[in-house]
Amino acid sequence: MNILEACQHPKIFAPWFKKPETYGAWQAFLAALFGLPMDDEQLELYRHHTGRKEPPGEAQREAWMVIGRRGGKSFHMALIAVYLACFFDYREYLAPGERATVLVIATDRRQARVILRYVRAMLDNIAVLKDMVERDTADSFDLNNFTTIEVGTASFRSTRGYTYAAVLCDELAFWRTDDAAEPDYAILDAIRPGMASIPTSMLLCASSPHARRGALWDAFKRYFGKDDAPLVWKATTREMNPTISQSVVDRALERDHASAMAEYGAEFRADIEDFVSIEVVEACVSRGVYERPPVSNIRYCAFVDPSGGSNDSMTLAIGHSEGERVILDCVRERKPPFSPESVVAEFADTLAKYRVREVEGDRYAGEWAREPFRKKGIAYKLSDKPRSDLYRDLLPMLNSGTADLLDSDRLVNQIVGLERRVSRGGKESIDHAPGGHDDLANAVAGVLNASAVTRRVGHEVEITGFY
Ligand SMILES: Nc1ncnc2c1ncn2[C@@H]1O[C@H](COP(=O)(O)OP(=O)(O)OP(=O)(O)O)[C@@H](O)[C@H]1O
Ligand SMILES: [Mg+2]
Repeated sequence: MNILEACQHPKIFAPWFKKPETYGAWQAFLAALFGLPMDDEQLELYRHHTGRKEPPGEAQREAWMVIGRRGGKSFHMALIAVYLACFFDYREYLAPGERATVLVIATDRRQARVILRYVRAMLDNIAVLKDMVERDTADSFDLNNFTTIEVGTASFRSTRGYTYAAVLCDELAFWRTDDAAEPDYAILDAIRPGMASIPTSMLLCASSPHARRGALWDAFKRYFGKDDAPLVWKATTREMNPTISQSVVDRALERDHASAMAEYGAEFRADIEDFVSIEVVEACVSRGVYERPPVSNIRYCAFVDPSGGSNDSMTLAIGHSEGERVILDCVRERKPPFSPESVVAEFADTLAKYRVREVEGDRYAGEWAREPFRKKGIAYKLSDKPRSDLYRDLLPMLNSGTADLLDSDRLVNQIVGLERRVSRGGKESIDHAPGGHDDLANAVAGVLNASAVTRRVGHEVEITGFY
């Protein structure tokens, strides 16, 4: 039974399509993905959304979907995962005792739960499939055909060592982890060897688009409109899911045009670019130097990025200047959950070792931190530059190689993960990507800015003294 027949079968997926007429574009997509015959209407949709001429004629090994928010990506990922796991037998490709895995990778736990709910509902409510489930854990289902459906989050550590019948990547333009500067490429690279032993294995990546970079943009740029390349299907939210009203899209466009054009219009954003390349940042890192101990005749600066302890890390960076160079000496990060007072106490001990009595911090995030630092004998000075300006002024220090960083992949990945955005009015802002973090980068940008200031002030004092 092919997937379209399964979708129409009253005892299989049909109950999930209450109004089948709203799923026309999805049916055309599924026909293309599995190389099924198409009627004229489907062929027209296929040509419109792929820019290709000839229908594929066979199932795809790799396909990409660039589709707007609420377009039905996660639901169809779950549907395809259940279909590929339950309706095929991969045993001929497996060693005795081995299982085939259909893996769905979501951005984060919340997205993974959405997909798991879809998968569980299908396995629970479709009698023939329910009988196949041998074991149901929090995030996976072992079936009696030696296949496992697993739903995970974007982490390339957990993706090694499996034999994949299919890997379905949801929202990969928004995968973020401090473990890799480019988690989408890192995870795809980790997965591909696991797909080699099953010749029919399928890699399916779906996402709403974001900036013009990363694996999704790359695939779109390279494959869209090419008949002999992996399938790329690009569609707006309403093209895939006409139940979303135009007024929802219009309101979003009014609020933030560039963002809504990406979210609902499935257009890659032209207003967002990389802040700095990995090569530039790597060139500023002293490899093998994790911390520089305090030296008696150096005057140190410190910058803190406070956090209330439930969502973000709280970070501290200590640095100094030496001639033209600004040098990072020490970074500290405490990940949530934590008690802010105890982290302030811990940071105060570190500051004491570097003889620092005044720490700088963000104006907006840091108001609460003044009192606890004061109690420890440390003045908390509000930074006169907003975060975005600290990054703007960090850039020339990185580009010229005058910044000397410590060996921390998290720090490098956070700096490289920053995005520069220019609004329609020409205003520039630099911030982490959606779902990303920049707590370490923020503290380091702050302390290098502060060190550059002491360098300038120190220079003036010297000159004045000379005269
Ligand atoms: N073509 C369609 N017709 C009717 N309902 C649809 C259609 N496509 C999706 N839906 C419904 O729209 C909702 C959103 O679907 P889903 O979560 O799969 O979208 P998504 O693209 O993953 O969204 P998000 O971008 O928010 O993650 C679900 O309730 C789904 O059942
Ligand atoms: Mg989704």
